[in-house]
Amino acid sequence: MRHLISAADLTRDDAVQILDTAEEMARVADRPIKKLPTLRGRTICNLFFEDSTRTRISFEAAEKRLSADVINFAAKGSSVSKGESLKDTAQTLEAMGVDAVVIRHSASGAPYRLATSGWIDAPVINAGDGTHQHPTQALLDAFTMRRRLVGRDAGLGQDLAGKRITLVGDVLHSRVARSNVDLLHTLGAEVTLVAPPTLVPVGVETWPCDVSYDLDGVLPKSDAVMMLRVQRERMNAAFFPTEREYSRRYGLDGERMAKMPEHAIVMHPGPMVRGMEITAEVADSDRCTVVEQVTNGVSVRMAVLYLLLGGNESAVSHTRTEEN
Ligand code: CP
Repeated sequence: MRHLISAADLTRDDAVQILDTAEEMARVADRPIKKLPTLRGRTICNLFFEDSTRTRISFEAAEKRLSADVINFAAKGSSVSKGESLKDTAQTLEAMGVDAVVIRHSASGAPYRLATSGWIDAPVINAGDGTHQHPTQALLDAFTMRRRLVGRDAGLGQDLAGKRITLVGDVLHSRVARSNVDLLHTLGAEVTLVAPPTLVPVGVETWPCDVSYDLDGVLPKSDAVMMLRVQRERMNAAFFPTEREYSRRYGLDGERMAKMPEHAIVMHPGPMVRGMEITAEVADSDRCTVVEQVTNGVSVRMAVLYLLLGGNESAVSHTRTEEN
């Protein structure tokens, strides 16, 4: 694996290797000094053309825990406002010695273009592009599901075979939904999408999942329910159901959550819109893993960076060296 552009590019073995490596990386966070020497002397640029809280800070934390030098680039305040292209921006950064690029962009396909155009030599990691893909989000979600539904130690080497995962909400605009459908299918899970008819993408029948419009019917058959944010910034106002109508039919409140099996978890990639797709009661409940997902994101991104850039030594040997 030279780049990470799409969850669909990962085989089952690739994905399980990343999840297992992330378990090794999670041990680092439990130590007083949360650092490994793995990427000492390497420079990683976080190239963000679109706003982010979780992904940007999580990549930065992962890079620093692996001892990389970090350059944070935000399009706002840069020469992008003067018309500089993605190609010239990326070549400018590489000329300063960047060894890898993490990119978020509002245009679907921008990371793929950067990785395949020959503009730069550095590995490219997609941190979310338009409505297309967000592969590290899908990996951290799968990591969280595996820990919660299979078990932290029992999960090593395992996939999510037979687990029933429901994604609810604005599927049309969601790169998280696309990435999760691809990865969860690869890991053997059964995925169901629940959305208003206007927020279901054309061609969804070719995706490896079921589609339902009956949230109350699907909840009792779910091991994990992931609520998606309604992305008003990407939609025409005419598309938009009223907040009240949306919450009534597709929002998760305490009464609905009670229909889920006792072991089932509630997930959200963030940012949440409390009162819209999820009530505060559910978001703050013990069954909701939203904060855990953020914590797990650092370990998963450390694993991805390690496997793309870290050389041949095993993550285990690195973590053990630091422990000695
Ligand atoms: N889940 C996610 O991508 O959040 P941010 O937009 O805050 O990075």
